[in-house]
Amino acid sequence: MAVHVVDHPLVRHKLGLLRQANLSTKDFRALSNEVARLLTYEATKDLLTEKVTINGWAGPVEVDNIMGKTLTVVPILRAGIGMLDGVLDMIPGAKVSVVGLFRNEETLEPVQYYVKLANKIEERMALILDPMLATGGTLLATVDLLKEAGCKNIRGIFLVAAPEGLRKLEERHPDVEVYTASVDTCLNDDGYILPGLGDAGDKIFGTK
Ligand code: URA
Repeated sequence: MAVHVVDHPLVRHKLGLLRQANLSTKDFRALSNEVARLLTYEATKDLLTEKVTINGWAGPVEVDNIMGKTLTVVPILRAGIGMLDGVLDMIPGAKVSVVGLFRNEETLEPVQYYVKLANKIEERMALILDPMLATGGTLLATVDLLKEAGCKNIRGIFLVAAPEGLRKLEERHPDVEVYTASVDTCLNDDGYILPGLGDAGDKIFGTK
């Protein structure tokens, strides 16, 4: 499995700001979207393009166009919504497929409560968005459902990833590529990433 830790001064700097305790909702939201934008740039750098001729100001000019059905962005509710604006800034025409899962506290299995996928998903690359790849349970369930829908090309964008979640993804879905600003140290006993960002959903939505 390929794990791309995007090593860029802007990403490292913004991630450092995101790690600060007591950041305002406004700043956490803005920084999450800024890092998401930069990670998207990396996650899409091998998209295929084709030459087309357009009318330029001085006559015909050959330019590059991204080929095919391109992609769908898949924010995992709720925290993934906090990266969506940043990703759509970079890919304004992307179709959005929304996935909502909760954990059944008896079986501990993820249960779908909302899934609405883009059409022709089998022809698109899926870019899953979740600020935190922690235990990986939600991510694995999302990849399962995307593959069941026919999706063959899946990437995940995470602000921060934990080694535990990456290991699970590697075992179950080694074809999924990961783009992240950092692979952090470990999970604590409550499933939070250390040093991590805290509860990213609460910080993005201002709930606590
Ligand atoms: N979800 C979060 O919001 N933070 C973590 O550290 C782990 C899961």
